Order: sequence, then structure tokens, then C-alpha cells
Amino acid sequence: MSKIILTGDRPTGKLHVGHYVGSLKGRVQLQNSGKYDEVFIMIADAQALTDNADNPEKVRQNIIEVALDYLSCGLDPVKSTLLIQSQIPELCELSFYYMNLVTVSRLQRNPTVKSEIQMRNFEASIPVGFFTYPISQAADITAFKATTVPVGEDQLPMLEQTKEIVRKFNSIYGETLVEPEVLLPSNQACLRLPGIDGKAKMSKSLNNCIYLSDSADDVKKKIMNMFTDPNHLKVSDPGKVDGNPVFIYLDAFCQEHHFEEFLPEYANLDELKAHYTRGGLGDVKVKRFLNEVIQEELEPIRKRRKEYEKDIPAIYEILKKGSEKAEEVAAKTLSEVKSAMKINYFDDAELIREQAERFQS
Ligand code: TRP
Repeated sequence: MSKIILTGDRPTGKLHVGHYVGSLKGRVQLQNSGKYDEVFIMIADAQALTDNADNPEKVRQNIIEVALDYLSCGLDPVKSTLLIQSQIPELCELSFYYMNLVTVSRLQRNPTVKSEIQMRNFEASIPVGFFTYPISQAADITAFKATTVPVGEDQLPMLEQTKEIVRKFNSIYGETLVEPEVLLPSNQACLRLPGIDGKAKMSKSLNNCIYLSDSADDVKKKIMNMFTDPNHLKVSDPGKVDGNPVFIYLDAFCQEHHFEEFLPEYANLDELKAHYTRGGLGDVKVKRFLNEVIQEELEPIRKRRKEYEKDIPAIYEILKKGSEKAEEVAAKTLSEVKSAMKINYFDDAELIREQAERFQS
């Protein structure tokens, strides 16, 4: 069986380092591993509209930002198909049939949707489209017969729901859809990178993100202002490493060679952590190190972005070509789905013959 990747992001803002360690970096590695027959990367504009109906301009503006972020991280349009969700109408059709396989109470139990509803203060005014986006996400995944979906931890409930839909569909209509597997980053720190203010989630509205497109200066300022252990007042004080965002970021980004390069008095992160815990290691020193580490990672991304920014029409062309290719794949799946459901009446010679006989006898 071919191995196919599908994943994507809502274009509601630029992508940040949380997206990067949580999923993007891994996608680029998977793309370059040569182990996958197809890689589809979706800019999920239709999903973004499910809670931005009154602000389509936001979504429209951010499509190119996300595309630039993708390309500058190393997603290569020769190896991966980059597509825009709304340009694949087959996804809506699939969703419409999948909706019959999911109960309202099952959707209500989806923990990610639950917390999003709370965060957005939707309560009694949840848009139906938003409420049902896990179903549309199942369409995204199954339309491409994805076997592997690399995502952040918050997407686990969507994958569970997708699998249930696949099983239900296949059990009613016969083996048609492929059950996907989720792929999470193996590094715990990458699963949920906190904001620079120490809050659990990096989010544009909290103004606590380091963006992939931030200038070197902005990144440095953000890192030097990062929240650390609030009780670590003097350098000599013992400090806390657990839950300290500076150390979580180091866990996510730092590798042994960084010590040789930027902080040779320590052999590795464990030694640095031990010193901080003991006391006698100042936050400024640790932050400066973190800054070096992150700058080294982001610099090539920034450079590539500058190059891609020079020819924006070419990026739209990449997205157009990718969407066209994706639509062909989705159309094939939709046709298989309709055959399985036996709603492909005009292609069903047997049905037509049967009905003809029934009325003749
Ligand atoms: N829900 C994802 C997010 O919020 C975006 C997304 C849409 C997606 N369709 C997908 C992710 C399919 C993985 C697979 O970022």
C-alpha cells in the first residue's frame, strides 16, 4: 500500500515556532525521507472560515503568509503538493455524506472543539460549520487516502473522529476509505510549546508568539523578555527548570553541538539545568544561549523567505498547480465513495436494467 501524508494548517495568522517544532520541522524531514509516495500539505482556509465568517479578509491575507512559511521551512513543491482546501469542492461533498455517520453528541464530546468553543465564547451561538469541522477534517484526510497525518497534540481528537468515520463508512458500504495514523513529535517539549509569557498556548491574541518570519532583532527581544522562574530573583538563587519556558524551549531546540558552539563551559543541557537548579546561573546567560540556538535554526528559514517573497505570483502558481493535482486525487476518492454508496446512478447499468425489468414485468 502506498504511504501518503496529509496535514495542514488554518491560515489565520503567520506560523510560529510552536507550529515549527510541533509539526512543520517533522513534515520537512518526512518529505525528505523518501519513505512517502505522496505528501499533501493543505492550507485549510475553509476550516478557518468556520469561525471567521465575518472576517474572510483575515483568511485571505494569511494564505500567502502560511505558504511562505511552508516554503521557507523547506517544504518543496517538487516533493510535496501544496494545496488550498476551498479549491477542492470534492471535500464538501465527502463531508456531506460523512455527516450522516456522526452523532451530535459525539461532536459535542470532542475535547478540542469543546475548548475552542470556550476560548471563543461561542456557548449558545456556535456556528454549525464550526461545530462540524471535525467531519470536514475527516474528509480532508480521507480524500487523499492519507496513511499518515503528522500533527500537533491538539489534533488527536480529530484523528480519532476520522478513524471512527472511516470504520463506520467501511463497515456499512464496504472497504473504501483508509484509516490514517497520527504522527506526533517524539520530543515531549515539542508537543506543546508554551508562549513566551509562560502561558500554556502560543496564540496570536495573547501576543506571546515567536513567529518564523520575525526579524532577528525581534526574536532576540522576545527571548530576552521571556518569562522564567518568577522566584529566581538573584543569580545565586536556586532556580526551577520544570515549567520554565526558557528551558522548555531549550528542550525543544537545543542539541549537543550548540554547547560546543555557544556555551562550551557546559557539555549538555543536563549540566546547564543542574547548575540553574543549584543556583548561581543567571537567566540572562541562559536566555542569550537560547537566542543563539533559535537564531541558528531560524536564520536559514528567514533567508529562504526573503527569496520567495521576491516572486509572490509564483507562489500562487505553486498553490494553483498543487490544488489542481489534489483535486484529481480527491475526485477519484469521491467517485469511489459514491460507487460504494451506490449513488452513482448513471454509471450503474445494472441498476438501470433492474429498474427497467421491474417496471416491465
Ligand atoms: N485542524 C488543523 C489546525 O487547526 C488544520 C487542518 C485542517 C488539518 N484539515 C486538516 C490538519 C487535516 C491535519 C489534517 O491546524
